[in-house]
Amino acid sequence: MRFPAFMKIEVSTKTLDRQPGDVLTLPVAEGGRLPSWAGRWPSAARKLVEPLLKSKDFTGKLNELAAFPAPGGLPVSWVYLVGVGKERELTPDRLRQVIAVAARRAQAQRRKALVFPVVGVSAREIPAETAGQVLAEGAVLGTYRFTLYKTLKPEEQKRLEKVTLAVGRGISSAAVATGAKNGTLIADAVGFSRDLINLPANHKYPEDIAARVQKNARKNTGASKISCRIIKKAELTRLGLNAILAVGQGSVHPPVLVALEYKGPGAGSKPPLVFVGKGITFDSGGISIKPSGNMDQMKYDMSGGAAAAGAIQAIAGLKLPVHVVGIIPFSENLPSGSAQRPGDIIRTFSGKTVEVLNTDAEGRLVLADALSFARRSKPAAMIDLATLTGACVVALGKHACALLTNHDGFARQVKEAAARTHERVWELPLWPEYSEQVKSGPADLKNIGDDGAGTIIGAVFLKEFVGNIPWVHLDIAGTAWADKDQAYLSKGGTGFGVRLLTALAADWKPLPSTVKVS
Ligand code: BES
Ligand code: ZN
Ligand code: ZN
Repeated sequence: MRFPAFMKIEVSTKTLDRQPGDVLTLPVAEGGRLPSWAGRWPSAARKLVEPLLKSKDFTGKLNELAAFPAPGGLPVSWVYLVGVGKERELTPDRLRQVIAVAARRAQAQRRKALVFPVVGVSAREIPAETAGQVLAEGAVLGTYRFTLYKTLKPEEQKRLEKVTLAVGRGISSAAVATGAKNGTLIADAVGFSRDLINLPANHKYPEDIAARVQKNARKNTGASKISCRIIKKAELTRLGLNAILAVGQGSVHPPVLVALEYKGPGAGSKPPLVFVGKGITFDSGGISIKPSGNMDQMKYDMSGGAAAAGAIQAIAGLKLPVHVVGIIPFSENLPSGSAQRPGDIIRTFSGKTVEVLNTDAEGRLVLADALSFARRSKPAAMIDLATLTGACVVALGKHACALLTNHDGFARQVKEAAARTHERVWELPLWPEYSEQVKSGPADLKNIGDDGAGTIIGAVFLKEFVGNIPWVHLDIAGTAWADKDQAYLSKGGTGFGVRLLTALAADWKPLPSTVKVS
């Protein structure tokens, strides 16, 4: 585990020819000529880049990188050219990507200090604070590594230690610094979430991962305290959270429910914004067992829970004036002599009964109880994140999660947060016709449908447990896991949702209380 952030991020107003470090980064735009910000570059740097652009040996396309020994007269040893794509298309997310590419390369080459000029503020009118934030996020996330189980030689353990954000004239370095501080904090929380996801399932049994979440919550002290309650099996039984218990009954490691709460300045008495996260520490499918190919990846089936826990860490760290509750059911879905069987009927915490026709549709079972339990805190709104369906990966791949809702106004706020953070969402409908598919003969509901629309069916099932609370469901099955290193994502858990939930809380506006009739 790697917290707090190992990396120091500085903001400096020195000109680029006087910025010491191992590497000077020069962001280059696509289009064959020097970008508008090249006026700030040392002349030796311009002389290096111009012929490369003319010859098209370096085109400036997004995330292209070329490393050169620094020309004489600069206080750095290396120059990295990084492509930002077309200058007019430079966005905060592209800045986040580009610095990540540079920082990752610098770390791989065992460089200690990277200089990166803050671009796009004058040229593209990106607010200085936003630029500081995304650059810090990109640098920290791009150099994230999960090495807990790797025996490394001392030189292999070396990390990028310092990033200097060089601001030009007319840009507020105080605003860049504020953004960078917030960005570091948020990226740290994403790192915490990634660490939990990347842990193997034999090192994060429900009680163990709950203890990690609790320990992490306790690190936030003082005014921005996070309270953390762990509800163990005996209490789950007493309370009647039978769906969570049913999913976990095949494992010798009992399920738990984690309840986090953060009361920001002045917000303690307001109805909370509630985050619910699926926390299946390993999903074998249970008796309806999955095929063995890639089954190892099912350790990421707790990514929704990791996002909820990470976001609350970030929100508390930023001391946002909001009241937030996190509800995370952790459970392991395994086949055994004590596992639940297809055909079993569970009486859920809500009182509704569910016929379990497929034990691999377990996420909706634990979330059914978690959502009904969450209603006890009288939420202003609830958002759940879950790696719920393979169908979502088919529909949207890795570039967006699915959003389904009973409340357009709340969904709008989530969509705005998604746009700001580039953790993209795409809405699917929740028309009442779909609900027919989850009606059961012998019970009130069944946990699978029989006519396609897998992601929607997962959501209509959950909708049965949210009542009239404004609610958004995010199916993050595709976005929670990266198959390869890419810009600020590293292979493995992505921590998707931490930044989105944090942005949602940062700009949260209480809702008028009408539920969409869909
Ligand atoms: N955890 C899986 C969904 C999943 C699949 C997440 C692939 C990430 C990648 C979930 O519990 C599951 O198995 N869902 C089933 C539901 C089906 C039985 C109705 C699925 O998607 O196949
Ligand atoms: Zn499953
Ligand atoms: Zn699952």
